[in-house]
Amino acid sequence: MVAPKPPTMRRSPIIPKPSKWDNLEYNREYWDTYAKEWDKKKVGMDNADIVTEAQRVAYFQVLGDEWGNKTDVKKIVEEYIYPFIIQESIVGEIGVGGGRIASMVALHVKELYCFDISAKMLKKARGTLSYYTHVKYILLDQPKFSADLKEKFDFVYSFDVFVHLDLHMMWKYFNEIRHILKVDGKAFLHTTNLKAPDGWKHFASQKHYSVQHHYFISPEIIQILAEHAGLKIIKESNIDNSNFYLNRDYLFILQKTTNITPAIIQGLLNIQFCYANW
Ligand SMILES: C[S@@+](CC[C@H](N)C(=O)[O-])C[C@H]1O[C@@H](n2cnc3c(N)ncnc32)[C@H](O)[C@@H]1O
Repeated sequence: MVAPKPPTMRRSPIIPKPSKWDNLEYNREYWDTYAKEWDKKKVGMDNADIVTEAQRVAYFQVLGDEWGNKTDVKKIVEEYIYPFIIQESIVGEIGVGGGRIASMVALHVKELYCFDISAKMLKKARGTLSYYTHVKYILLDQPKFSADLKEKFDFVYSFDVFVHLDLHMMWKYFNEIRHILKVDGKAFLHTTNLKAPDGWKHFASQKHYSVQHHYFISPEIIQILAEHAGLKIIKESNIDNSNFYLNRDYLFILQKTTNITPAIIQGLLNIQFCYANW
């Protein structure tokens, strides 16, 4: 009998730097470069109504105005941010970018913390929001907030950011958001949605995940993350073909209803089980 040949040894793939397996490094490299090279005269725009040079000049205010369209963004801010903040609110934005959303929020809150992993994006945000003295800028070197921010926030939001994160990164942020929210505090997040018509179209047109072209999930996956993080979904988007984002993505509000996490409950159940079997 001829012995079967051993499988040929496969060399491990050469992983380019920054490693695409490190979602934070991959995002940081991409967004630092984006901010560095951004030129409002040349950047590609989603809004097909802006054609002439004069229209472009009138339309552009900040880095980010090239994504989606401003009317649809305004509607999202009115439905998913304004109802959840008051003048006394302490608010955080994860992934502030050039300050496109923060510039619509800053005036309406007591304190605004702008977090980002990209130093170059934070610099753009500082420029956009330079008028405000109650805005703080924090460069994150990992998906983690400092201990002094525990239960500090009434509201945390992240728009057009989670669409670029992989699922492990999202899960880390779910836990971190829970950690920095006050009890009854709320968070607005925005992810991809394979169930939405333009979400599916976008996914099906790609060969593999890349930071710029989104990481695809569906609302059911968010439900699982929320349950495990001890956060409750209290509002979610419906598909709407009149809005760029609502026809493509999933938008939702989470609420922290208690300080007791599912992990604490599980720990207590384990102790009870040990005693019962002792
Ligand atoms: C498409 S821009 C959106 C910026 C802004 N939220 C807006 O809507 O204009 C994505 C931003 O998320 C930031 N980002 C990417 N990964 C991140 C992470 N893991 N944690 C925090 N920010 C991140 C990027 O640096 C970039 O500024």
